[in-house]
Order: sequence, then C-alpha cells, then structure tokens
Amino acid sequence: MHVTHLSLADFRSYAQVEVALDPGVTAFVGPNGQGKTNLVEAVGYLATLGSHRVSSDAPLVRVGADRAIIRAQVRQGERQQLVELELNPGKANRARINRSSQVRPRDVLGIVRTVLFAPEDLALVKGDPGERRRFLDELITARAPRMAGVRSDYERVLRQRNTLLKSAALARRHGGRSMDLSTLDVWDQHLARVGAELLAQRLDLIAALQPLADKAYEQLAPGGGPVALEYKPSSPEIVGHAREELYEQLMAALEESRKQEIERGVTLVGPHRDELLLKLGQMPAKGYASHGESWSYALALRLASYDLLRAEGNEPVLVLDDVFAELDTRRRERLAELVAPGEQVLVTAAVDDDVPAVLTGTRYVVAEGTVERV
Ligand SMILES: Nc1ncnc2c1ncn2[C@@H]1O[C@H](COP(=O)(O)OP(=O)(O)OP(=O)(O)O)[C@@H](O)[C@H]1O
Ligand SMILES: [Mg+2]
Repeated sequence: MHVTHLSLADFRSYAQVEVALDPGVTAFVGPNGQGKTNLVEAVGYLATLGSHRVSSDAPLVRVGADRAIIRAQVRQGERQQLVELELNPGKANRARINRSSQVRPRDVLGIVRTVLFAPEDLALVKGDPGERRRFLDELITARAPRMAGVRSDYERVLRQRNTLLKSAALARRHGGRSMDLSTLDVWDQHLARVGAELLAQRLDLIAALQPLADKAYEQLAPGGGPVALEYKPSSPEIVGHAREELYEQLMAALEESRKQEIERGVTLVGPHRDELLLKLGQMPAKGYASHGESWSYALALRLASYDLLRAEGNEPVLVLDDVFAELDTRRRERLAELVAPGEQVLVTAAVDDDVPAVLTGTRYVVAEGTVERV
C-alpha cells in the first residue's frame, strides 16, 4: 500500500498542511527543527496508534490547540481509502474511515502499514526489555490487526489482577483477614488465556523474523554476525509454542509464584515480564555491542520487519527518519540499494547530501512550517 495524500491539522508544529505523495521514494529535506519528523510521525501514528517518539498524545497536539487531526488517503492496489484520526488528549480519540460515521480508532489498524526506523530505535538494542516487547507487539499487530484487541485485553486483565494482588498484600501486611482468593483464580485463568495468545504470536513472529534479521545484518555489516533472537519467558516453566500448552504452563507458573505475588502485590509471571534477548555472535548486543553495531542491529530488525510484512502480502510504507547521516558511506549505499525498490519509502534528512544518489524520487523542502515540492 501507499499513502497518496497526507493532511494534518494542529498536529505538532503544523497548524495545517497538505502533502501529496507519490509511490516510490520521497525525501523530506530541511534544517533541524523544521517539521520533517513530524510528518512521518503522523504517518506512523496511523499504523500503530502511537508515536515513535512519545508515549502520550499530548505533545502531538499543536501548542494552544485542543485536538489534532491526521488524515490520509491510502491506496492499496485498486482500492482507495480515506482514514482520519482525531487526537483528543485526556479524552477518547476518534476515527473515521471514508468519511463514514465513527469507528473505533482500533478499526483503522491495518489500512496504513508502516515500518519506521528512527534514531530512537537505538533503544531497541540498548534500552529496557519494554522497548523490545513493544517492538514485538507492534509487529504482531501489523501482521494481524485483531491482536490490538488481545493486547488491550491483556493490559486490562493485568491491571485488574494487580489491583487485587495489591489489596491482598495490604491486607496481609496490616494483619487483616486474609482475603478470599477464589477471585484470583478467575483472574489467573484470564491472564493465562490472553497471555498464551500473545505469547504464541510473539514466538511465531520471532521464528519468522530470525532468519530475516540475520540476513539483513549480514547485508549491512558483512561478516559481523550472526544475529540471534532468543525469547526469555518470565518463568522457566514456560517452554511451549502452541497456545494450549502455553496456557497450561502459564497457569502452572502462576500457581508456583502465587505466594510471592501476594507478598509483593504484583503479577510476576506473563508476557509483560518477558525479555527478547538480542545476540550478536555469542554475546548479548546490550552491554557488549559498539554504537555502530547496535545501530546496525536496530536497523536490521526494522529491515527484517519490512521483509516479513512484504512477504506476507500488503507491502508497508518504509519510513527512514534521519537514518543516513548516522551511517558510513558503504552502509548508506547498501541500505539505499535494499530499500530503493520499495512501493513507498519516506526519507527525512537535514541536508541533500545525506540522501544517497540511488534514492532518486520526489523531494520536498521542509522549512518554517511549509512543505514545498522541488
Ligand atoms: N505540540 C507541538 N506544538 C508546536 N510545535 C511543536 C510541537 N511539538 C513539536 N513542535 C516543534 O516541532 C519542531 C520539531 O519538528 P521535527 O521534529 O519534525 O523537526 P525535524 O525537521 O525532524 O528536525 P531534525 O532535523 O532536528 O530532526 C520543533 O521546533 C518543535 O518545537
Ligand atoms: Mg527529525
């Protein structure tokens, strides 16, 4: 798929902007702080219902405005769709498809698909486990939009179970009557059921991604690998792959850790505590890999994601935000050759020279709130 028109109102620095987009490569070039990333961030938001830079919506709304609108005309084969999101920080966001009446924002998922690579992605390798879990979960949602529902169910069940555990822990500490734990049994089953579904999807994803990530790393940094993705569940009891066995194992692990959970008042078992270990050669990339290696690793994960989504059908838009300036000439050229044939590639760069010559295509100059085709 590709985006043919992007329209923003009160999004980030833009009061109003209209950008017509072609398939193939489009580069947004302009000095720092002029609004290049803001444009591609909006496209990414349509695909994930989140920003790659901030975890809440408030910074996405132009200062002084009370809501932002992102609208995109999307083409997939012969099909045209208009998607629109209204961001209302502190209140529910709203969504429309083809100007029809309201749908849930979640229903928009799958219309715009993106793989976005940005400097923030260094955190995929160097950051907390939560960064890697988010990477996995966003990708499983891109593969199967219904997983957005499973993810939010899991978060809800986890919140409610934690609330229960917290009050059990408080009651215990204050010597009160120990509470009726049968309610907890019910929440264990919910957590294990939804958790098993999430886990099965993550494991399936990692199996598919592994060879692609290794290949991508080899293309970017020949001889530097191999790259291995190892999933580390929250409990040694969780060793399965199929949903049913994962459910049983999660139930067993919850039972095992119940005493500790009641002492600490928090859920210690489940996909929210899992880790994706990224290995480079024999060592974990985190803590061992150099800056350049970490950067190539993060990029390899994004390129692998791109390959995977492409192979599974509907081709995503590839977004490369400020990526080329970080790479040496050889890696720049390799990356450019890899991505040049994509259906739609959106690139941002501060100066023209950072965009490799093989990436010919449409250029826009972004300056002082305007986006002009050159
Ligand atoms: N909510 C907001 N309201 C108004 N302006 C904002 C808002 N959020 C960000 N900005 C402004 O947008 C500008 C940053 O835009 P953006 O990140 O797109 O820059 P850029 O062109 O990608 O720059 P660089 O080359 O440094 O990456 C900043 O000047 C910032 O102050
Ligand atoms: Mg930027």
